[in-house]
Amino acid sequence: MSILIKNGKVVTVEKEYIADIYIEKETISDIGLNINKNADKIINASGKLVIPGGIDAHTHLDMPLGNISTSDDFETGTKAAAFGGTTTIIDFATPSKGMRLQEAFEIWQRKAEGKSCIDYGFHMIIIELNNEILAEMDSLVNVGITSFKLFMAYPNVLMVDDQTILKAILKTADNGSLICLHAEDGIKIDENVKDALRKNKTSPIYHALTRPPSTEAKAISRVINLVEKTKVPVYIVHVSSFDSLERIMMARDSGIHIFAETCPHYLFLSIDDLNRPNFEGAKYVLSPPLREKWHQEKLWDGLKRNYLQVVSTDHCSFNFKGQKDIGKNDFSKIPNGGPGIENRMELLFDGGVNQGRISLRRWVEITSTAPAKIFGIYPRKGTIAVGSDADVVIWDSQYGHTISSNLHHMAVDYSMYEGLNVTGCADTVISRGRILIENKRWLDIRGGGQYLKRQPFNLNGSILV
Ligand code: URP
Ligand code: ZN
Ligand code: ZN
Repeated sequence: MSILIKNGKVVTVEKEYIADIYIEKETISDIGLNINKNADKIINASGKLVIPGGIDAHTHLDMPLGNISTSDDFETGTKAAAFGGTTTIIDFATPSKGMRLQEAFEIWQRKAEGKSCIDYGFHMIIIELNNEILAEMDSLVNVGITSFKLFMAYPNVLMVDDQTILKAILKTADNGSLICLHAEDGIKIDENVKDALRKNKTSPIYHALTRPPSTEAKAISRVINLVEKTKVPVYIVHVSSFDSLERIMMARDSGIHIFAETCPHYLFLSIDDLNRPNFEGAKYVLSPPLREKWHQEKLWDGLKRNYLQVVSTDHCSFNFKGQKDIGKNDFSKIPNGGPGIENRMELLFDGGVNQGRISLRRWVEITSTAPAKIFGIYPRKGTIAVGSDADVVIWDSQYGHTISSNLHHMAVDYSMYEGLNVTGCADTVISRGRILIENKRWLDIRGGGQYLKRQPFNLNGSILV
């Protein structure tokens, strides 16, 4: 199939220009003015933006947690992602205790294969590290899993100690992968939680109050101390607060290669949401928790100035009814996580570009190009260029709408952004040359997404400042 996209305004990190784009099969094969070639399909993008498909580098689809699983699987989650203008995800494969990483990889392959309608890669979570697992890290790099997540929170379940983190970081120096860290002081948080419950403080707000910004910032300082000695790059996932950002800023200014992402919920929501009546605060229980509102502007500023390089969703959806309410009488039992895979691009476009906080090009960078570079899929993904995959989104920057769970495509019974008005939305979405969405309507496509064998981390190819 060939597609000719006419007269759109192409936006990449490097430039904005009016052009036609010609797609043959799965690839962009020509870009220029007045391309005059036959095409099976011609799309008029006049008055619209043409951007590289979004890349959400942090999702949890079909993820088990105790006796339940996230409400979105690879079918519903990736369809919703596409509606929001995202054409690639990197999901977290999660082994259970004693499981080989290879087995977790195969389990996640089976979850995604045939179901995902967009391309997908995996990070691998590491919850224990022995010699076999260290060796497995090498084998996984060879099959395209080039990043690993370690937790400094959730003692006895996921948490590893600093020695383990250091071992893993040193391993990445050998095999070219990247360690991603969930930086929260799990020991201190556990003490706080026990103390709160002893005092009968059981409502959702205590999720945030027992995980204050200092617990995140101190964990980040520990990471910085480790990498300061090793000089090996690391990536901090879901940065929520200025306290943490400040430490990252200082580290980056001193030449340490620390990369970091934040998430839309930290830019748009606040700790006040955890105080919503009728247990609705549970909808906003995720970790690290939402912070006081003033942190938001600081995080936007960090994005603008490249102290934060990426915005991912940490999409981890649990229904309010039947899942979040497991913690009705005890906030510590509320499944952590929130939905957002569908909303990332529009939220950042409206809150970022429309509100004048970031430029159009920076929007493309933090939602697509930077994650592609950091996670080893650039320039196949993350840009509009001849030879790149035809992951192209035609963006209607004028389209105003109200976010609501009544309208969204995520398989979850609430939206964290219910009632928020935004302008800008994906109009037509093309994933490796297949049109998934045209004029904001789904084209009855199922599956078709492919596993992405990612390249090792390349510091020079990444976002160095
Ligand atoms: O609360 C969250 N973020 N749940 C998802 C798991 C994680 O830590 O990323
Ligand atoms: Zn995490
Ligand atoms: Zn996560």
